[in-house]
Amino acid sequence: MKDSQLSRRTFVKMSTAGVAAMSLPALAGARPGGAAEAAPGAAPQQQGGAAAQNVIPAWRPGDADSFTRYYFDSLMLEARYLDSDIPSTKLELFGETFDTPIMTAALSHLNNPQGGMIIYAKAAAACKAVHWMGMGEDKELEDIIATGARTIKVIKPHESNDEVFRRIRHAVGAGCFAVGMDIDHAFNSQGKYDNVLGLPMRPKTTEEIRSFVKAARIPFIIKGVLSVTDAKKCLEAGVAGIVISHHGGHVPYSCPPLMVLEEIADAVGGKMKIFVDCGVVSGMDAYKALALGADAVSVGRHLMPYLRDGVEATAKRIDAMTAELARAMAVTGVTSLDKMDPTVIHRTLF
Ligand SMILES: Cc1cc2nc3c(=O)[nH]c(=O)nc-3n(C[C@H](O)[C@H](O)[C@H](O)COP(=O)(O)O)c2cc1C
Repeated sequence: MKDSQLSRRTFVKMSTAGVAAMSLPALAGARPGGAAEAAPGAAPQQQGGAAAQNVIPAWRPGDADSFTRYYFDSLMLEARYLDSDIPSTKLELFGETFDTPIMTAALSHLNNPQGGMIIYAKAAAACKAVHWMGMGEDKELEDIIATGARTIKVIKPHESNDEVFRRIRHAVGAGCFAVGMDIDHAFNSQGKYDNVLGLPMRPKTTEEIRSFVKAARIPFIIKGVLSVTDAKKCLEAGVAGIVISHHGGHVPYSCPPLMVLEEIADAVGGKMKIFVDCGVVSGMDAYKALALGADAVSVGRHLMPYLRDGVEATAKRIDAMTAELARAMAVTGVTSLDKMDPTVIHRTLF
């Protein structure tokens, strides 16, 4: 670990306590380059720079989504023009090459009249981006794969491991290039076992995860990691990649993924892939996650309004985010994704 990383993390830990003492409304002003989280069904909005005309929600203490937004916006970039050039945003993942590290997120139930799940997949395929699918039935996954989107299926932590194994077999047979599980849907808001749309859930042990990894025989991913502890257990279990995520603010006071990303990257980076989701709404957000140790990022709710306008509109937004990322790479001397450097990032508020 570099000294600069150590000092930055130390600062984060110290300053987290300091944040509590700050006047929250004072921090709730305009956010350069940021964007309000797109509510499902809202009109697409232009993101970035002076064009960001969004209504910015105040930071609501305990609301992980709004704090995640502030965290992104508190990170600044230094410039490194000398010896820089036009960057490549190509992503190598599990033996395949993609044009961008900006992926779709594992969404589900996008049942708009135009067929949201299929539009989402087609847009990812058009951008040569990795596509993720959340819960849903076998036929829906088969239809998604038929779009040509290279897809990672995320299975719920079903109470029945037989059901988990069955879904793994189906995903592999259907042609997914990786499969995984979102571990953060094990408990409900009362601390009991969760039940998602009538389907009973259970927390899984490291040993159970190991058995899923073994059964899959293709890369197995765990989504919902938000600690070094879980990341190390995933590594122990043979997991090929983790998604650092709080599942869209699922649990109050969850850390922003970027707050734990560097520590996780130090612990398991290079030994497994690290993906990030939650609150990514621009290429600049993507850049910050990649600089701090992510291999790729997912975008969910921000793309949902574009789905209403079809494949082209959605693909155009992914491409625009990739262009924003490319610009940030160019001006910081990063010519390919493997040259990302966390020392480019400077922390301000947190
Ligand atoms: C409509 C919708 C459906 C979702 N369904 C799933 C799911 O089935 N499985 C899953 O792991 N995550 C699911 N998620 C969570 C997303 O994968 C992601 O973690 C979350 O939305 C945060 O990313 P974002 O801020 O880019 O939206 C869903 C999110 C939304 C908005």
